[in-house]
This record gives sequence, structure tokens and C-alpha cells, in this order.
Amino acid sequence: MAKPAKSSFVCQNCGGLSTRWVGKCPACGEWNTLVEETAAGPPPGSGLTRSTRGRVIALETLAAQAEAPPRHPTGIDELDRVTGGGIVPGSALLIGGEPGIGKSTLLLQLAASFAGRRRRAVYFSGEEAAAQVRLRAERLGLCDAPVALASETNLANILATLADGAPADLIIIDSIQTLWSDALDAAPGTVSQVRAASQSLIRFAKLTGAALILVGHVTKDGQIAGPKVIEHMVDTVLYFEGDRGQSYRILRAVKNRFGPSDEIGVFEMASEGLREVANPSELFLGDRDGKSPGAAVFAGVEGTRPLLVEMQALVAPTSLGTPRRAVIGWDANRLSMLIAVLDARCGVSLAQHDVYLNVAGGLKITEPAADLAAAAALLSSLSGAALPIDTVYFGEISLSGAVRPAGHMSTRLREARKLGFASAFVPAAGDLDSAAAKLAITRLSHLKELAESIGPCQ
Ligand code: TYD
Ligand code: MG
Repeated sequence: MAKPAKSSFVCQNCGGLSTRWVGKCPACGEWNTLVEETAAGPPPGSGLTRSTRGRVIALETLAAQAEAPPRHPTGIDELDRVTGGGIVPGSALLIGGEPGIGKSTLLLQLAASFAGRRRRAVYFSGEEAAAQVRLRAERLGLCDAPVALASETNLANILATLADGAPADLIIIDSIQTLWSDALDAAPGTVSQVRAASQSLIRFAKLTGAALILVGHVTKDGQIAGPKVIEHMVDTVLYFEGDRGQSYRILRAVKNRFGPSDEIGVFEMASEGLREVANPSELFLGDRDGKSPGAAVFAGVEGTRPLLVEMQALVAPTSLGTPRRAVIGWDANRLSMLIAVLDARCGVSLAQHDVYLNVAGGLKITEPAADLAAAAALLSSLSGAALPIDTVYFGEISLSGAVRPAGHMSTRLREARKLGFASAFVPAAGDLDSAAAKLAITRLSHLKELAESIGPCQ
């Protein structure tokens, strides 16, 4: 006799399991994300219910001929850059991002570009009616692109449609959280539905050689399963980020089995859709006048691309018992560390000051080399002296206050030079080549030297 299906509580953010309901997921720490789900039995016909004897498979060596995977260039350069040269047939790609960030817009543009190259692109929209998608295509000027479009959420129907027509080169599912399979007794958007639908679609894509793109919404309240629960199943994971108040959008690779996983693509949301930004440095430098204290330009590198970005700080006397520290676009823990290092190693105390730090343009910086630029912005705001407008900063700061070398020094300096900067504060260690010759370079071994160069801070 079949046992009754067991239910368990599944975190909709990370997929963690718990036997009873708790407010905070023990695995990822998110609140209110646990939902009761009936555990799915093994798929029918999978043979997992009986103990079966496996078949012997031939083992291979590592030295086997490995060919570079074939790729479909997307026709969108920034997307090609992030994916490592185009989309690999038979691979699965996940695009995550908050609702309204522009995922559907990007994918419609991609589908149209694909279809324009005589490849078959099929777009399943589970969120919008076909008429809505058509309206968007009209706005984007893509009505004539031969994209095959359907509004559907039933997984079985989608698979049947795909198997029936001409073989697709590109399948887009917008979004994976809207799909449901009646084989499962769970609501659409739950971890089990999202996983089961992804698994079937990925299997189909691998069998037929079609490239599969899944859209996954990131939501804060955990009402639907987040894209994290299928990250391990797909070959490539891209996140679409940006501040909705700003028009810039960053497409960031966080996992890529077929290319680099630290590249970014930069787009601008315009009235006629997403526009590629070929030279993003100009965009993130902000409106600079060189007169206001608290702004420092960080010469960063994202993937293989140099990126100059303005870091802005405001340090003001506090009226609170515990001063405020607020940061946008950078790690709050790194800011706390920097403030502690300034205090302990350089004698610059911010204990009586509120500190605000912002990265211009809505970019998120994760590179440790941004420490020196953040420190320069803080010191400049504290002293009230504006930093020279034509100077860039980079270098990681250790807890001892030492300025540690950063990678890609020449790439950073070359970009600074190209954009008209004349001087740079860089770590003392590390090789500089001819790229540095055209700039006035100040090499720093300790944060104290930067504090002294910026002036009296109290
Ligand atoms: P959308 O692609 O629907 O986001 P997602 O699929 O990630 O939820 O993007 C929606 C936003 O983009 C919406 O706020 C309107 C804006 N937008 C433009 O500014 N210009 C355009 O040409 C289009 C199509 C959308
Ligand atoms: Mg959408």
C-alpha cells in the first residue's frame, strides 16, 4: 500500500528543509519563507521505488578531446560579453532579478535578435498575455521579428508544444515561478513546482540542443521560490541589478560553466528598451565639479573591463547616541572595518559622526580594492577639503592599515588616463608598466599617508 505523502516545510528562498514551521529559515536566515509542501515522490517510471540493478557505464579519461562549445552569438554585445561569447546550444541559463528591472524587455530583445538571424526563438510568457507582449514589442520596434510567442503556464502544454513544432534554437520561459505541473500537489511558485518544471525543461533542452533561458524573480518576502533554488541545476546564472530610480542596469554573471563568472554587462533603460552602454566609466562618474568634499574616483575592474566610479561620502556630527552608518552600493561591514582602521591606525575618529557612503550610478562594488577610494572620500568629507578632480584611487586596506596591492594595476591606470585623469594613488607594492608613465603616481604603503595628504581631519 502506498504511504501517504509526507509534508515538510521548505524555505522558498534557499530550498532548505525543516520538519516543523519556524519563523526564520535555519539554513539561510531569511524570515517568513517557510511554506508547507508535500514531498514529491519519485517520478513515475524512474524506477526509484524498486531497487534495480544499474547498468555498467564506460568511464573516460580527462585527456579526452575537449572541443570549445559551439555558441550562438546573441547580437547584443553586452550579453555576449557576460555569457562568454554567446549562448551555448543545449545549455540552461537563469536570469534573476527583481520584478520590473527589465528582464522581460531584455529577453524580448534577445528573442527578436535571435529570430532575425534565421534561428527559431520561442517565447513563453506566463505573466503577461500575448497581447501585452505584442504591445511591448511594438514599443521596442520589434513587431516584425519572427518570434514564436505563447502565453502559457502549464508545463505539459509547453513541453508538448516544443516537441511538436520545428525544433527551437532558443526557448525563453518568463518566468519559471509561474509554471505548474499537475503531477505535483503544490501551488505554482513553490520550491517543488519550480524545481520540477526547471528539471523537465532542462532535460528537454539538453536532449534537443535548444538553449533554454529561465527567468526567476527575486522577491524579498519569500512568497514565491527565489531563483537560488535552481541555481545549481543550470549552467549559467546571470543577475540583473540596478536601482529602479536610475536608468542603468547591470547584468552580472555569478556562475558560468562556459565562460568567466565575474563579467558585467551594462545597459541603460530608455523609452525604446534597453540600450547597451559600451563605455560605462563615463556613466558612473557622476556630475563632478571638483569643489564638493567627499567624492573620490575609484579605478575598478569588473571581470576584464576597467570601470571608473565615483564614491561619495558624507560625514556629519551626530545627534544620536549611536552614530548612523548607511551605505548604498558597498558592503556595510567593510565600511565599519574601514572606520575602525581609521580610528585605530590613523588616529582619525568618526565615533561622533554619522557616516553615509554612496556609489554613484546605482552600481554595487564588491572589489576590496575600493577601500582606498572609500577612505579618501571619508577623509575628504571629514576634513572639508575637496579631492583633486583628476585623481583616481585604488588599493585594499588591511586591518593593520597597510595598503595592499590590487590586481590589474595597468588596466585601471590606462582607463584613468583614457578618461583624462592625471594622477593616481596606488598601493606601494605591485608592478607598474608604461601605463603609469603618463600619470602622476603616488604610491602608498599605509593608510596614514593618505590621511596626511588629505589634511587635518578634526
Ligand atoms: P520588464 O522587462 O517588464 O521587467 P521584468 O520583466 O524584470 O519584471 O520592465 C519593466 C520596466 O521597464 C517598466 O517599469 C517599464 C520599463 N520600460 C522602459 O522604461 N522602457 C521600455 O521600452 C520598456 C519596454 C520598459
Ligand atoms: Mg517580466
